[in-house]
Amino acid sequence: MLNEVNPDTVQTLQRCALEESRLGIPLLFGRDVIHGFRTVLPIPLGLAATFNPELVRQGARIAALEAAAAGINWTFAPMIDISRDPRWGRIAESFGEDPYLTGVMARAMVEGFQGDDLSLPGSLAACAKHFAGYGASEGGRDYDTTSIPEHELRNVHLPPFREAVDAGVATLMTSFSDLNGIPATGNRFLLTQVLRNEWRFDGFVVSDWAAIEQLTAHGLTANDRQAAYEAFHAGVNMEMATSVYAGNLPDLLARGEVSEEMLNARVADILRVKMRLGLFDRPPGQAAELPPLQEHEAREVAREAAVQSIVLLENRRQVLPLKADRLKNLAVIGPMADDPYEQMGTWVFDGDPTLSQTPLQAIREAVGQDVEVSFIKALETTRSRDTGAWDEALRVARAADVVLLFLGEEAILSGEAHSRADIGLPGAQAELVAMLKQAGKPMVVTILAGRPLTLGSMPEDVDALLFAWHPGSMGGPAIADVLFGRVSPSGKLPVTFPRVVGQVPIYYAHKNTGKPATPETFMHMDDIPVRMPQYQSRFVSCYIDAGYEPRYPFGYGLSYGRFVYSDLNVSNREVQQGQPVQLQVTVTNEGAMAAEEVVQIYIRDLAAQVTRPVRELKRFRRLRLASGESRTLSFRLEPDDLSFYGRDMTLTLEPGTFHVWIGGSSTAGLQAEFSLVAAPPAAAEAS
Ligand code: NOJ
Repeated sequence: MLNEVNPDTVQTLQRCALEESRLGIPLLFGRDVIHGFRTVLPIPLGLAATFNPELVRQGARIAALEAAAAGINWTFAPMIDISRDPRWGRIAESFGEDPYLTGVMARAMVEGFQGDDLSLPGSLAACAKHFAGYGASEGGRDYDTTSIPEHELRNVHLPPFREAVDAGVATLMTSFSDLNGIPATGNRFLLTQVLRNEWRFDGFVVSDWAAIEQLTAHGLTANDRQAAYEAFHAGVNMEMATSVYAGNLPDLLARGEVSEEMLNARVADILRVKMRLGLFDRPPGQAAELPPLQEHEAREVAREAAVQSIVLLENRRQVLPLKADRLKNLAVIGPMADDPYEQMGTWVFDGDPTLSQTPLQAIREAVGQDVEVSFIKALETTRSRDTGAWDEALRVARAADVVLLFLGEEAILSGEAHSRADIGLPGAQAELVAMLKQAGKPMVVTILAGRPLTLGSMPEDVDALLFAWHPGSMGGPAIADVLFGRVSPSGKLPVTFPRVVGQVPIYYAHKNTGKPATPETFMHMDDIPVRMPQYQSRFVSCYIDAGYEPRYPFGYGLSYGRFVYSDLNVSNREVQQGQPVQLQVTVTNEGAMAAEEVVQIYIRDLAAQVTRPVRELKRFRRLRLASGESRTLSFRLEPDDLSFYGRDMTLTLEPGTFHVWIGGSSTAGLQAEFSLVAAPPAAAEAS
């Protein structure tokens, strides 16, 4: 059953199924519980920016308890499609561009939803989706075709799903997209070879909404009957929303095109999940007693998640944190400053806007009576172009000590089927910033949006810039916490921000190419002499008008602390194949304020049988340091962390040189080197 959230109806239906149906098989009640239920957490892309899986686990737990109270026992999350295209609206639902980070968050979410034991009241069956490759849809257009070479599929897109399966995820959902000519919903390679034969998954696979029927629109099949045949043989256990299976499987069975044995196997996978959920053991009609959930606990987790998701992109002359006791007048301006609904983001069927606390409310609360807070929207929505209120906005800005602007995208501009070709600030928001500059007041911009945006010259034009994603119910207090320095911002970008949309796809773990650009070799088109002979060109990989670097790199985010890394130490310059690598580094907060840092470890395999990315995230750790505090951290990289899927599509560990970096973003860090050397024959045999 889909989308039934009246607990009494759920109980009635469940009782009918158990007592009045032929076989007494209980029902699943599925719902998109994506980032919270009534209490809304930041969108998953924001959750990824926390680099804090424990918080994601707690958030999923709270969502599970709230949803279970409405009768839900199956959620369609986590969405773990690797998303490297900010045009794609569904990037909001993802954990961003990195396979390792996505895998860590996938595990955390699965564990949060499913709890210690799926059969305990309050646990939901999770659903890892969309299997697989959906994030690579051409041009970032939703539902579009993907072409992904198998080694890239295995090295980039599949690892988070493997992690979810290893974490015990009960179900998977197929992708709508075509993968290398065979739509995922009819793809035997994915659903049988990889998922069942290689990974030994024993839960069930549900199609996405009407995706079996759509095999015909894709052009894989000519009619529903063939579509049922292909999806069934590929390995889809359950159809969502349409009735192609119900309409065609009896005939396929009768004619021997589907065997009874296969039908039983497909059904058994579903029954197994229902049994694991304890649905056969519960007395019908009696609501399970749920563990208590205090509303304030849900709010606190939502607030902490929002706080840790906020990324400080710019902070000139340390305009932030604001000192409330030195302010008299604050101007709060913009369409996202006081909108309880829009701050929740995409996929909030059950999100309760009355629980939302907006930035305006939280700022008023934070500064108290002594500071006058004047609010004007200036633009009705993020898409508005009507400048009718701008004179008044300028007057308000002029009268203020600091202008706090809240811009971004409304919730409906991201999410499913809401791809954008231009990912700039919609409407007249960029012009609003330029106009308000005339006030000559310090300007702090907070962006609430579902995807990375291209910001033009705005980051240089303002004094501070925060990216808060769609931060959910507690977005307001979280933003106020950061603005007024109750906490230091500590979010890091889980996805690269391009300068201009034409740079997409742009992601940190790219390949080097044979002609990488460098500061020395790059020449901007404005610097190319007129009629320069072609042979004088710099033959490097870049755009002559946009360079080769992003606006903000993956892993980036500023802090009110100042973190200094020192003494990077690698246990062995030569590591025997199969042995772990031990790393140590010291991190010191030389800033004046206590703050949290996300320490990130990247590697590069310099030469391999299949070329490897210029950097790959392998570990991260969030840590809090008081002002002046230093800590030495140890990390261990396992052989699998140094392995990759090679030419024969198996996990390969090759001798050779690796670079390793430890730092606070994908473009920073101390660097060291080590080599993997072939293990002596005896050791190799033993391993
Ligand atoms: C279609 C979406 O692609 C999927 O993610 C979602 O879970 C289903 N609809 C059910 O709403």
